[in-house]
Amino acid sequence: MSKNIKLGLFGFGVVGQGLYDVLNKAKGIKADVYKICVKNRDKRRTIPDFHFTYDKEDILENPEIDVVLELINDSEEAYQITVAALKAGKHVITANKKMLAEHLEELVQLQQKHNVSLLYEASTCGAIPIIRNLEEYYDNELLFSVCGIFNGTSNYILTKMFDENLSYETALKQAQDLGFAETDPTSDVAGFDSKYKLCIVAAHAYGIFVNPKEVFNYGIDHLSVHDLKYAKEKGYKIRLVPNAVKLNAKEVTLFVMPQFVDEQHYLYNVNYENNGVIVEAAFADKQFFFGKGAGGHPTGSAVLSDISALTYNYRYEYKKFLQQDKLQYTTNVEIEVYVRYTTDSDIKSLKLNNITEKFFGKEYNYLIGTLSLSDLMKAKDALENKGVYIVDTGKDLRLLKKEVTPTPK
Ligand SMILES: NC(=O)c1ccc[n+]([C@@H]2O[C@H](COP(=O)([O-])OP(=O)(O)OC[C@H]3O[C@@H](n4cnc5c(N)ncnc54)[C@H](OP(=O)(O)O)[C@@H]3O)[C@@H](O)[C@H]2O)c1
Repeated sequence: MSKNIKLGLFGFGVVGQGLYDVLNKAKGIKADVYKICVKNRDKRRTIPDFHFTYDKEDILENPEIDVVLELINDSEEAYQITVAALKAGKHVITANKKMLAEHLEELVQLQQKHNVSLLYEASTCGAIPIIRNLEEYYDNELLFSVCGIFNGTSNYILTKMFDENLSYETALKQAQDLGFAETDPTSDVAGFDSKYKLCIVAAHAYGIFVNPKEVFNYGIDHLSVHDLKYAKEKGYKIRLVPNAVKLNAKEVTLFVMPQFVDEQHYLYNVNYENNGVIVEAAFADKQFFFGKGAGGHPTGSAVLSDISALTYNYRYEYKKFLQQDKLQYTTNVEIEVYVRYTTDSDIKSLKLNNITEKFFGKEYNYLIGTLSLSDLMKAKDALENKGVYIVDTGKDLRLLKKEVTPTPK
């Protein structure tokens, strides 16, 4: 695109306003916000009223608008807007990870059919440029794994619990007071938000489109002082870690779980609302990206980078998806876990093997052993029990996979 880009902006909240600021301060980019569509007519705005509309068709049906920036906080409506914009031949830039994770394959087909771009760097880890790096820099790399801290809210809570000995409830309240956590924090603390981002990462790292409903997520809301004590005694911190791991030439697994990290681990020093991404590859070896995973200006800068990419007609090519040797998503993998519980009945649904550590105390017990991810996903009573907590010890899954002995038929 060589002309001045006309942008139609949906949403003028944290990210929308952040983008608006960043765009106004950026030099050299030929793009203007033509109209902004918002929802609430009574809200006071920081810029004059004539910029705004409450009718989405003012943007979607306007032939002068080339690019739709979808930055609203309603994933269902975001999906409707994105589909309508792509069908109208407009490029779309979005930050909505839930919408993307749930509809990615369909949206990719739609952008191809209508010969437009759908870009979403801001959806995953804010200002960290992970999507375009996976797509371009690592396009021919054999990626062993991509993991990290993809959610600032849960990491803020974990940092407060470890560094200041705050309870989960107090740390959550502080995060809410500071605007890091929503009134309903479930998506962040239970690992859903990290999981949506993981599904987007998996599409670019491994060329697989996995429905987030099929991916295991377990969060930090059952974490207790006993688990903190164990971690501290061993010199660990606990981080909420989304994992995408290539297990062998054919299979990739995905899951989100709390994980012990020791002082040598890159994620040990990723504190507060920061994010970190570790990419492990055959040739490049381990690389670590660190930065702001959220906030108006950091996320706005990722949107700006996508707008800039459109000026040279950039489009994700999903190169790994197009490669011949397709990878399969599997949950047939062993994970080594720490399990804290009170009575044996708490963990009767967990089929723990290869137990290497046991502790039986007055208030609680714990075991360390291995279990299969597919069995773990079925163990609903243990997972929902506040008296139980499960942490990935961080042992390399590719080593554990070899230890699995097939069950006789
Ligand atoms: N906050 C972050 O740091 C961050 C980081 C990365 C990605 N994201 C993603 O970015 C998106 C926006 O998040 P945010 O934090 O900016 O949200 P936010 O501060 O809550 O703002 C949401 C905006 O969307 C508008 N809106 C809601 N429904 C709408 C509709 N049907 N039509 C038009 N406008 C509508 C709201 O309008 P009113 O102003 O009229 O209420 C508001 O301006 C979300 O998908 C989020 O997951 C956020």
